[in-house]
Amino acid sequence: MNNKKIYINTVGCQMNVNDSERIAAMLQPLGYIQTKKRQEADLILFNTCTVRAGAEESLLQNIANLKNLKSKKTGKILIAVAGCVAQQMGEQLLKRYPWVDLVVGTHNLHLLPDMLMDAENGKQRVETAFLDDNAEVERFSAIRREARISAFVTVMQGCDNFCSYCIVPFVRGREVSRRFTDVLDEVSELAAIGVKEIVLLGQNVNSYGIKGVKQPPFFVLLRAVTAISGIERVRFVTSHPKDMSDDLISCFAELPKLCGSLHLPAQSGSNRILRAMNRGYTREHYLDTIGKLRKARPDIKITGDMIVGFPGETEAEFEETLSLMEEVNYFDLFSFVYSPRPGTKAAEFDDNLEKEVKLERLGRLQKLQGIHSRIHNEGYVGSTQRVLVEGLAKRHGQVSGRCDSGRIVNLTGTPSLIGKTVDVKILEGYANSLLGELEK
Ligand code: SAH
Ligand code: SF4
Ligand code: F3S
Repeated sequence: MNNKKIYINTVGCQMNVNDSERIAAMLQPLGYIQTKKRQEADLILFNTCTVRAGAEESLLQNIANLKNLKSKKTGKILIAVAGCVAQQMGEQLLKRYPWVDLVVGTHNLHLLPDMLMDAENGKQRVETAFLDDNAEVERFSAIRREARISAFVTVMQGCDNFCSYCIVPFVRGREVSRRFTDVLDEVSELAAIGVKEIVLLGQNVNSYGIKGVKQPPFFVLLRAVTAISGIERVRFVTSHPKDMSDDLISCFAELPKLCGSLHLPAQSGSNRILRAMNRGYTREHYLDTIGKLRKARPDIKITGDMIVGFPGETEAEFEETLSLMEEVNYFDLFSFVYSPRPGTKAAEFDDNLEKEVKLERLGRLQKLQGIHSRIHNEGYVGSTQRVLVEGLAKRHGQVSGRCDSGRIVNLTGTPSLIGKTVDVKILEGYANSLLGELEK
């Protein structure tokens, strides 16, 4: 088999990270091995995100820049676009950038090997049709994976929530849950090759089982996954606040393998804005949920997403977001300036706020979060944490892993620790990581 090199550029959410893994595994039998150096690639694949305008613009710039590379390089170099921009723009991408060889939408990854063979023979293709809800195999086939410590397992795809600002339901399609037994089979196979941590993945994992072909509810799936022997830790992402059932919350009290952190995006602290966003819950409901979670697992760390500068957001409404942050005390918060997206409801609203105002609000929010995150990290100093060591740290002589909350912990140690869960005494808390030493 002649070896060709594929360079994958991935942006966006964990769905895309997972899809990139799937792509790499799928193209291996065609002789493609992954490289981290774009200069030596025979195939450059962009796995793209369109959730905010910025991500899309920088991708398009990247593709535009490849025109020269393609005409200069002797021998063949192929350019592929996958993911949410591919889904959104389809044919248009080829029209604007004729040096692109193939465009593969979010429901069409299973066609990629075939498309690539066509591309190698000079035939351009665009595939962006949505799959039927029952197309289980095309959608969810397990990824062939090598031994590793932590692995994503997709449990559902798509989103039916149509938050007014969000393009995801348009580019990922309707919610579909993977068959219960297929999820468990994949987790068991991963456990058998030494995987210790499973991250269950979906746009709205906690509405698993509800839509389309019915499956048991998410909390039942979660219990079953944590019962698989060899699996030591389970996480899940992303959850929607409106679907955090009491049964799911009690899992945090009852399942020791379920890690003590939860990503639960609020998006805003103002009820008027939440309504305009079509989020389906109020500030009070959100805080009530956080209260229940803390009761179930007192040290649970909550992370979230916030949007500032939604159309019509007043200073007082923005301050409600800051006060929500004070009440929740987020461990980490991903925050974004509202970005109008084509086809969404909010794109029709009057986006009347000045850019400076939006940026100033974002700055204030991030400053507050910086303080909260630092206090959380400093709070670890002197404590002992169970750390699952995942690999070598950047610094020589150190290994790196995560504690229960997901925070990265670096410690002095040899590679023999990789895959083990060890007790680590925390010595320092930095902005994004902790430093520790093996408990003696
Ligand atoms: N399903 C997940 C993730 C959606 S996209 C969820 O519901 O949380 C990730 C984040 O991007 C969202 O949580 C939101 O904070 C942000 N986002 C989505 N659309 C946006 C837009 N138009 N402008 C700014 N931020 C946006
Ligand atoms: Fe977008 Fe809302 Fe769906 Fe999340 S729940 S993907 S924010 S529409
Ligand atoms: Fe982006 Fe698509 Fe994920 S738009 S956030 S990569 S679902």
